[in-house]
Amino acid sequence: MTDGPHSPSPALLFPPSAVERLAGYTPADQRAILGDGADPFGVAHTGLTWLPKEDHFGIRHEGRLVAHAGLLPLRMSIGGAITPVMGVGGVAVAPGLRGHGLARLVVGAALDHARTRGPRHALLFCRPPLTAFYERLGWRALDRPVEVEQPAGPVVMPLRTMWTPLHDDEPWPDGPVRLLSYPM
Ligand SMILES: CC(C)(COP(=O)(O)OP(=O)(O)OC[C@H]1O[C@@H](n2cnc3c(N)ncnc32)[C@H](O)[C@@H]1OP(=O)(O)O)[C@@H](O)C(=O)NCCC(=O)NCCS
Repeated sequence: MTDGPHSPSPALLFPPSAVERLAGYTPADQRAILGDGADPFGVAHTGLTWLPKEDHFGIRHEGRLVAHAGLLPLRMSIGGAITPVMGVGGVAVAPGLRGHGLARLVVGAALDHARTRGPRHALLFCRPPLTAFYERLGWRALDRPVEVEQPAGPVVMPLRTMWTPLHDDEPWPDGPVRLLSYPM
């Protein structure tokens, strides 16, 4: 996987209607997009335990799944208040089709759905080299550490936390942030 400057490739037209809601998302579906490398998201070094996502959005090209984004509703404690948040994860585009806006499309469709589900904010965790990518999509870096649950108890999330408002540019609430589950 490369995170460096991505060279523009010849335009392929994928309209918003190319995104479909998937009935499910199996390990084989993920392999169809990212191949069968041991650590396609580059996060194995964290040793974290993750939750599967609940709702899945994808794009097919010539019959093959080539892009995915998943959603999982979460509960957080923010400044001591229990707050619903929409978790986003499993964002992936097939290596040969990167740079055509597929991630922008599939994440955008997932967020359109998230807006119908109630939470005021969406949240995701990513490796530091991907913060610039999510900022291009309008996400912001959270300026505070986030505790997440793990099998041996809460730990501070070692990856970057990004968030985006789902309604009316609502700011992220003040106070310490704790995810009341494993991350997604
Ligand atoms: C990260 C990833 C999803 C990007 O997919 P993509 O389809 O190439 O992204 P898009 O073409 O939709 O790019 C959207 C915007 O981000 C920019 N961008 C893409 N990759 C970037 C990167 N690594 N760094 C900075 N900007 C990036 C694009 O130039 C584009 O900008 P613009 O629309 O303003 O011109 C893809 O590289 C991937 O699947 N990586 C491996 C899996 C992974 O790490 N997923 C993230 C898990 S948190």
